[in-house]
Amino acid sequence: MYADNQMRRNTIRDITKLKGARPVVSLTAYTAPMAASLDPHVDFLLVGDSLAMVLYGMESTIGVSLNTMIEHTKAVMRGSQKAMVILDMPFGSFEQSKEQAFKNASRVLRETGCAAVKLEGGAVMAETIRFLVDRNIPVMAHIGLRPQAVHVMGGYRTQGKNEQERTEILNDAFAIQEAGAFSVVLEGVAGSLAAEITEKLDIITIGIGASVDCDGQILVVEDMLGYFPGNAKFVKRYAEVGETIDSAVKQYSDDVKAKIFPALEHTYGLKPKS
Ligand code: KIV
Repeated sequence: MYADNQMRRNTIRDITKLKGARPVVSLTAYTAPMAASLDPHVDFLLVGDSLAMVLYGMESTIGVSLNTMIEHTKAVMRGSQKAMVILDMPFGSFEQSKEQAFKNASRVLRETGCAAVKLEGGAVMAETIRFLVDRNIPVMAHIGLRPQAVHVMGGYRTQGKNEQERTEILNDAFAIQEAGAFSVVLEGVAGSLAAEITEKLDIITIGIGASVDCDGQILVVEDMLGYFPGNAKFVKRYAEVGETIDSAVKQYSDDVKAKIFPALEHTYGLKPKS
């Protein structure tokens, strides 16, 4: 089916068999050029609903629509060749009923060509996850700090710091595994709890602010590139892209004002008369 020189995309099988072999590498991506830059280095790309804040300047992830997520996922699919691509189901697109979740998640797979969906929620979402998986929709779950639940959680705070929270999150982890999720994002979870979940589950755990003991890691790419304000403890900034852009644009502005740009080499000449 595949020509020899055609790159094959990673599959869920490729990713899940990394458990215990080597850490899974992933990042968020929302656009085709960014996806192309990340593609050679990651196992999967998540089109996260964090794009609401990072790209659209919203205050939380709650305001983004399914249509927007679909268009960005199409762009990421066009920009990448090798990475598996996952779409993050936005708030309101899956919680109402398992039928609603299937209607929207099947649309996602059909229209974007991506391999799986991610959805926030643990035990409460187990029935929905089972319904989707039984109908051929691979699901990555997302437990611990759930940004779509920011209002009920009372802010973005680390989860699993007391016994009651630990027990709830552990129960969530077992429930979503039992329901058939192939992987789970552990966000903002105390390191010792992430380690315990990772050891006890057979499925891949992907950590964000959840310690090195997860089976893999994810970050919002703009956070690690220094292109989004914030100084969360769990983010390592590998670049300062914001500063690079600032100095380049300042230089451009100075050049335009001083009539240094455009120079002759940037100017089309008149066609010589024949
Ligand atoms: O929306 C997102 O970017 C996410 C990751 C942080 C896991 O859910």
